[in-house]
Amino acid sequence: MSRIIVHAEHLLNKISKNIYGHFSEHLGHCIYGGIYVGEESEIANVNGIRTDVVEALRHIRVPVLRWPGGCFADEYHWKDGIGPKRKRKKMVNSNWGGLVEDNSFGTHEFLELCRQVGCEPYINGNLGSGTVREMSEWVEYLTFPGRSPLTRLRMRNGREQPWKVKFFGIGNESWGGGGNMRPEYYSDLFRRYQTYLKDFGGNKLFKIASGPNEEDYRWTDTVMKLAGPYMDAIALHYYTVPGDFNNVKGSALDFTEAEYYTTLKKALKMERLIEKHTQIMDRYDPSHRVALIVDEWGTWYDAEPGANPQFLFQQNSMRDALVAALTLNIFNRHSDRVRMANIAQMVNVLQSVILTEGKKMVLTPTYCIYDLFQAHQDAALIDSDVQTKEVGTQGALIPQISVSASRNEAGELNLTIVNTSLDETDLAECRILGWEAGRVTASILTDDSHAYNSFASPDTVKIRAFDRLTVKKGEITAEIPPCSVVRIKTAC
Ligand code: AHR
Repeated sequence: MSRIIVHAEHLLNKISKNIYGHFSEHLGHCIYGGIYVGEESEIANVNGIRTDVVEALRHIRVPVLRWPGGCFADEYHWKDGIGPKRKRKKMVNSNWGGLVEDNSFGTHEFLELCRQVGCEPYINGNLGSGTVREMSEWVEYLTFPGRSPLTRLRMRNGREQPWKVKFFGIGNESWGGGGNMRPEYYSDLFRRYQTYLKDFGGNKLFKIASGPNEEDYRWTDTVMKLAGPYMDAIALHYYTVPGDFNNVKGSALDFTEAEYYTTLKKALKMERLIEKHTQIMDRYDPSHRVALIVDEWGTWYDAEPGANPQFLFQQNSMRDALVAALTLNIFNRHSDRVRMANIAQMVNVLQSVILTEGKKMVLTPTYCIYDLFQAHQDAALIDSDVQTKEVGTQGALIPQISVSASRNEAGELNLTIVNTSLDETDLAECRILGWEAGRVTASILTDDSHAYNSFASPDTVKIRAFDRLTVKKGEITAEIPPCSVVRIKTAC
């Protein structure tokens, strides 16, 4: 039995909806096939963008989308991706399979995707192999409202008005594939490049620095010290790999009980990373002006048997749903500093919310978590405490129950509860301080940890109504089944 205490009368900061953001890269079939099929395709599309995928993304209210990479961003030259498609310069995508990229999905197509999905764009500029001029001209092309040679070019390419582009990243993983830089060198480059990224008209850029990999605390310390005042955010990357990243990572569907708990334990490491990087940021930025954003996170397994290993295509099971739910609960609880997160990647790559195969589309268990958790978007965080026991296997013991709570503008209180145990139901007693018993509704995602949605059976794992709870004044008692995520909603 676990005890959850929710301080409903004590509202904290807003949980930015951008925590529910996504990431799309020119990698495998994320963009081509997964999102963009071209106007001539037999697959239903609007301006070349898949209608089924857009509808699914609108349903979970994707707030922000990062593009064009990842590693790809640091070899992407934006001018190759504008103008008539047949004239666009081709390039080799050297990071992801050495394929020839035809640049048919470029700036205009990405911003059209954001328009259709109803989300904000987050563009990641090329610091690794691009120039200051190239990056600064991209911002001018995108956002300058007046007439200049570049904006005339934009108009000739079909876009009269400037776009609104707030989120702009300066390099990706600059400690590694983005240039193998030292933090001192990166800090100087960041200061230099950001100088030439201007705010035009009413567009105000939010400048994002390439942040640390996992536990690289020296990176955060140095970049905050040397470039902190010039940035709006620093981006942490952390992937959950059950095995060894450089050897056998582990299979997406074929895993043991021990591997299940190890995966969840590794996902929970996110909390420690956020706390430690935040402590360092607090030294230089005690007012929390600079956001910590986690613009790449999620599970990373060995590619599916038979799939091109460079395309990073992996299936997605209930285990992934639990990783997503645990991680989003962590982000919610740390949302005073974490103000954006982008799961990697939106379609067909790593921990996707959507998988496609030709015309077919599948919504993954991770998608269902984004559906359940959308209630937290832009709601006020509420303090919650949990007393729970540990479950798991030797070497991988984890708390059985994880929680986050929020209250939205409509006065609704939402509680998302994860039961990580593979075999034990938890009788969770939730005391909600400052709450009179009212109408309570609940939904659940639960199944065997290996369950997944395939193209042949797309509705195996899905959200259902949940009624195994009793309500009395100030308290809800719920029987939370093993391997499940429950969302409880009530007026407050
Ligand atoms: O998401 C896949 C890759 O992982 C990204 O391109 C890179 O930034 C990270 O190493």
